[in-house]
Amino acid sequence: MDFFDIVSSRKSIRSFSDKSIPPEILEKILEAGRLAPSCQNRQCWRFIVVDDKEKIKSLTFNSGLIGTVNFFLKEAPLAIVACADIKANCRLNEQNYYLVDTAISFQQMMLTAWSFGIGSCWLAAFNENKVKSNLKIPDRFRVVALSPFGYPKEKEGLYSKAVSTFAGSKNRKRKEDIIHFNEW
Ligand SMILES: Cc1cc2nc3c(=O)[nH]c(=O)nc-3n(C[C@H](O)[C@H](O)[C@H](O)COP(=O)(O)O)c2cc1C
Repeated sequence: MDFFDIVSSRKSIRSFSDKSIPPEILEKILEAGRLAPSCQNRQCWRFIVVDDKEKIKSLTFNSGLIGTVNFFLKEAPLAIVACADIKANCRLNEQNYYLVDTAISFQQMMLTAWSFGIGSCWLAAFNENKVKSNLKIPDRFRVVALSPFGYPKEKEGLYSKAVSTFAGSKNRKRKEDIIHFNEW
């Protein structure tokens, strides 16, 4: 796959096979995050790699995931929790960049994972305090996102299909509606 194929074929994956992620591939995924650009090169991101089955279950059921919608996390062989160090925040133009920096780094991980056939799904519908106490994350860090990582199940589950249909996941705005040339 060339880079555009990776970007254009990526989709959120919500059902996973049992196959675990080889360590050398995990290493590349993490390295892709480490190399990301950040405001004033502050690198405020921190990541927790959760590969312990019991911990993934605990994260799934004790993290205030909204309703049951995100319970598919329990199937994944691995989860990564993306945190940001508020003390390393870069503030410019009255904007805080810790979310941007951490999101760029996490997305680099997700795209690298996809280039190896490994799916993920950005999750924001969780209770931050519960995730923090579950994983012993110190106060000064925000939990920006978490995501399962794993090889997609060959046959996508019904639930997974229903969520992407409900979210209208295939829809994107038209170019004309989002891009201006030379001026607004
Ligand atoms: C910030 C953010 C938060 C999201 N939170 C959730 C979530 O809590 N649960 C979920 O199933 N998907 C979540 N998603 C995935 C979106 O629903 C998905 O990216 C969107 O529908 C487009 O579909 P695609 O990723 O398959 O292209 C989130 C995505 C982003 C970027």
